[in-house]
Amino acid sequence: MAQPSESSANSAACEGYDDIKWDQIEFGIVPTDFMYIMKCSEGEKFCDGSIIPYGKIELSPSAGILNYGQGLFEGLKAYRTEDGRIVLFRPEENAQRMKIGAERMCMPSPTINQFVNAVKQTVVSNKRWVPSVGQGSLYIRPLLMGTGSVLGLTPTTEYTFLIFTTPVVKSYHKGPLNLVVKDGLYRAVSGCGGTGGIKSITNYSPAYKAANEAKAEGFSDVLYLDSATGKFIEEVSTCNIFLVKGNAISTPKAEGTILPGITRKSIIDIAVDLGYQVEERAIPVEELLQADEVFCTGTAVVVNPVFSVTYNNTKAKYKTGSGTVSQKMYETLVGIQTGHIDDTKGWTVQI
Ligand code: COI
Repeated sequence: MAQPSESSANSAACEGYDDIKWDQIEFGIVPTDFMYIMKCSEGEKFCDGSIIPYGKIELSPSAGILNYGQGLFEGLKAYRTEDGRIVLFRPEENAQRMKIGAERMCMPSPTINQFVNAVKQTVVSNKRWVPSVGQGSLYIRPLLMGTGSVLGLTPTTEYTFLIFTTPVVKSYHKGPLNLVVKDGLYRAVSGCGGTGGIKSITNYSPAYKAANEAKAEGFSDVLYLDSATGKFIEEVSTCNIFLVKGNAISTPKAEGTILPGITRKSIIDIAVDLGYQVEERAIPVEELLQADEVFCTGTAVVVNPVFSVTYNNTKAKYKTGSGTVSQKMYETLVGIQTGHIDDTKGWTVQI
C-alpha cells in the first residue's frame, strides 16, 4: 500500500476514508495501515526510525519487556478540526513524560523532537483513519520497551520505540461512572519502589482484578486510596479525578503515586481561566462524598462525569448532565482540540 504524502494530510476527504465502517467501531483496537518503529542499543541514542506496515513484531522470548516488564506506554490523540486540519494535542507533554519514565525504568528515550516527529509521521501515514470532526479521534499509542535478551535482573541491551494507532469513535465509558472505594486496595506505593507517577506498563494489569470484582458488583471501576495512610483519594485505574464544591475544583496532587495526566493538567488551566478556584492537594475520601460534582479526566476517557461514589456503607450521588462544571470542562477541552474554540495557549500542533 502506498504511503500517503504529508502534503495531503489535511484533506478531510482522504482516499479510503469512505471504506471504513465508522458506525461499527467500538472502543478497541482497529488495525490501521502503518506503524512507526525505531531501535537502539544500550548506551546509544535513538536514530533513524521508519514507518512500516502495521503488523506483528518479532520478539525474543527472553526480551526484557516480556520477562521483567521493562516498558512504558503513552496515549494521545489526533483530531480533525472544523476547518479540515489534523491536529495533535500537546504531544510534547507525552514526549516529556516518556523521557521521565524512561529515566526511572533505566531505558534510553527518544528526544522530544524525535517523539513528536514520529507521532506526526504515524498520523500522516494513517490519516484516512482520523474520524471526521466531532465523530471521534485517532488514538495514538507510543511504546518504549526493552527488546534485548536478558536473564539476570538488569536493564537489557536493546530498546524499541514503536507507535501504533487506532480510531476511537465511541466513548471509553458508556455514561457517568459509579465508582467504588475499598479500604486496603491500592494502585501505587509511595517512596523509591513506586512507579505510580510514570506510565509504566506494569502499573496497569495489576488493576484488572479489582476492576473485575468491582464490575461484578455493579460498579464501573475502582477509585484507589493512598497506600501510606489509606485516607486520601488518588486516581481511578484509567484516569485522574476531580471534585467540585461551589466555585472550587480540587484534584489530588500528582506526586509520585499519581499519574500526571495531560488532560488533568489542561483541565486545571482551563478551570483557572474560567474563574474557578483550583486546588491540587490531599483530598480525604470523606470530602469526596460531600462534593457537588465529581469527574474523571484522561486521554481515553476525556472528561467523564461521575454519578456516584460508594465507600463503606455510604453511596454519594452527584450532579451530572446539562449545566454541570464537568460538561463545561468537556466542551471547552474538546472545543480547543477540534478548533471550535480558539487555541490561545498553543496546545494544538498541526500536522
Ligand atoms: C489513556 O487515557 O490514554 C490511557 O493511557 C489510559 C488507558 C488505560 C486506556
